[in-house]
Amino acid sequence: EKGLRIADRGFLNTAVIKSKITHIDGDAGVLRYRGYPIEQLALKSSHLETAYLLIYGVLPTKQQHNVFQSEVHRHSAMHADSEEFFRSFRYDAHPMAMLTSAFAYLGSYYAEANPSLEGQNLYTTGTPESLTIMDKQIYRLIGKATTLAAMAYRVRQGREFVTPPHGLSYTGSFLYQMDHLGQEDYRPNPVLEKALDVLFLLHADHELNASCTTVLQTGSSLVDPYSAIAAGCASLYGPLHGGANEAVIRMLISIGKPENVPSFIEAVKRREKVLSGFGHRVYKTSDPRSFIVRKTADEVFKITGKDELLETAMALHEAAMKDEYFIKRKLAPNVDFCSGLIYRAMGFPLDFFPVLFAVPRVVGWLAHWRQMMLQEGGVKIWRPRQIFVGAAKRDYVPIEERS
Ligand code: SDX
Repeated sequence: EKGLRIADRGFLNTAVIKSKITHIDGDAGVLRYRGYPIEQLALKSSHLETAYLLIYGVLPTKQQHNVFQSEVHRHSAMHADSEEFFRSFRYDAHPMAMLTSAFAYLGSYYAEANPSLEGQNLYTTGTPESLTIMDKQIYRLIGKATTLAAMAYRVRQGREFVTPPHGLSYTGSFLYQMDHLGQEDYRPNPVLEKALDVLFLLHADHELNASCTTVLQTGSSLVDPYSAIAAGCASLYGPLHGGANEAVIRMLISIGKPENVPSFIEAVKRREKVLSGFGHRVYKTSDPRSFIVRKTADEVFKITGKDELLETAMALHEAAMKDEYFIKRKLAPNVDFCSGLIYRAMGFPLDFFPVLFAVPRVVGWLAHWRQMMLQEGGVKIWRPRQIFVGAAKRDYVPIEERS
């Protein structure tokens, strides 16, 4: 393998693309979507407006925003057949497994999900027809992400599915589909609806994290975006990535009272435990999203009441931030440290938390997928090499002669 350079373990310090979408400065704790600081977007924008920005590169005009919002809503409904698909899961199936499967199932619906049918790829020509097909796939995946998640939720509750309502916001419609119990005039709590929208916006994209890389690796074979998103969803499911918000709560429950924090910290330092919600491959100071999540949590707790785990979480945060072991390794809270406390206060089941990460992250996955499809010079399949360190040539030994 002449001239091959092996990347650091876990692709540390390895850039695989050039991108205009999201900028992270890990040392300064900066996160910007298409140049706009996350703090400004969290305060002034919405998840759907930010989705438009991430995907198309500009803040939408009023007209563009209205078209985008109505198209996403129009494509949020699922075909009645999909009820049978969801009913095929056991009542206690993990919702991330259901969501991952559902994205691939979605792809089975649409003819353009099989580009080989057309002989040439639908997505890379950049023609108006191709761009229109991609837009429709983007509307469908963003719109249906909430519906599929809500269907997974209803399966777990053993309840009927709810058709996406008219006239509600993106997160309002999502909460309505999950919590509706037949009351005609049901409306989600506006403070919780807004809090979830801020959390969705914060989770929308984060450049080349493991799940986004998975979407691009998969998409580089020119498979349809539904299948590429299903692959990304599977990657996000892991406890080192999107599963961390669930792992944080399980960790806090296992710690119990704040007075148990010091012994937990010692167990972490003995590498017997992991401090979930801390550490990040890129941020070497606090994740800027974690401050906004913390503020949002205070808003939510005004409505739901404080979560008794908050005290333990704050005691853990304080102890870790002043402990040499964590300071030396530049470990600080990431986006997952407090988000789970909000989801728990809002009443979501623990194993549904990673779904609340996946739904908004569909936006970032699609933004990077579209950027790759339209890149200069077309798409090259991602096919890394290896450095072979195995056995030299040797001859087959019949089984009778083996010891
Ligand atoms: C997300 O990539 C993204 O952008 C992800 C994300 C996004 O928006 O897409 O930001 C979302 O996934 C946030 C991260 C959520 N995961 C967790 O909270 C799980 C706990 N965190 C760790 O598993 C870890 O910090 C990672 C996976 C997040 C990052 O791991 P790295 O970059 O591979 O770092 P590492 O494992 O090499 O750690 C360096 C050192 C090691 O110590 P030494 O062996 O050098 O002595 O820090 C230690 C690690 O043991 N360490 C931790 C730790 N994280 C790292 N020790 C205790 N608890 C931790 N959480």
